[in-house]
Amino acid sequence: MRLDSVRKRFGERCALESLSLALAPGEVYALLGPNGAGKTTTLNLILGFLRPDAGRIEVAGIDAVADPLGARARIAYLPETVMLHPTLSAIENLGYFALLGGRRLDDAQARALLNEAGLQEEAHARRAGGYSKGMRQKVGLAIALAKDARVLLLDEPTSGLDASAANDLSHGVRAAAQRGMAVLMATHDLYRVKDVAQRLGILRDGRLLLEQRTDRLSAAQIEALYLEQLSR
Ligand SMILES: Nc1ncnc2c1ncn2[C@@H]1O[C@H](COP(=O)(O)OP(=O)(O)O)[C@@H](O)[C@H]1O
Ligand SMILES: [Mg+2]
Repeated sequence: MRLDSVRKRFGERCALESLSLALAPGEVYALLGPNGAGKTTTLNLILGFLRPDAGRIEVAGIDAVADPLGARARIAYLPETVMLHPTLSAIENLGYFALLGGRRLDDAQARALLNEAGLQEEAHARRAGGYSKGMRQKVGLAIALAKDARVLLLDEPTSGLDASAANDLSHGVRAAAQRGMAVLMATHDLYRVKDVAQRLGILRDGRLLLEQRTDRLSAAQIEALYLEQLSR
């Protein structure tokens, strides 16, 4: 997946100023930045929910601006808030959403995906109405995995999760990358970036200030880097 010199304005307001990003298959990229930096706008442009004013977006070899539906078919998306049918179980929700995407899952396949996404087995057959946010996120991730997409987009997936649920979700994200998906994750969770992502980018006011590999950085160094960039 790649973005080349993408620009997006909302009226006078410039949400993205010439953003370029390239992700390899199997790579996890953490997009960091304060509120209003342009993270969600970036995801919405890749998904084709917004049109860029300038620049190119390519998803799995498809021009996402010319063919947003074609691109979207290759993208799995985990929104900030996952909406599930409260009267259906995780297995039933997953089966339903997979079917909307054109894939029929049997119970064993559904359970395997829910396990991969980190949802405890005890909850698989329980009504989703009683789920915590973390459990809903995990079902959302299983829905994303079921899609067998080339690109996975996540918008602040761990916001509001406890440490254990966030950790489980990180496992699920790594599982997606191991399947060869390119994963772009907007996040505020600096502490978990090193764990999950091979690269990070810091966005502010629609500009990418810095990109860096995470392998030589500690969590504390990532935080220091972030704070330093934002105070410039
Ligand atoms: N639909 C919209 N209409 C007008 N302005 C918007 C719209 N969506 C986002 N913006 C503005 O674009 C900027 C980037 O927003 P957003 O991408 O949501 O940031 P982030 O996800 O990093 O918090 C903000 O200034 C926001 O107010
Ligand atoms: Mg956002």
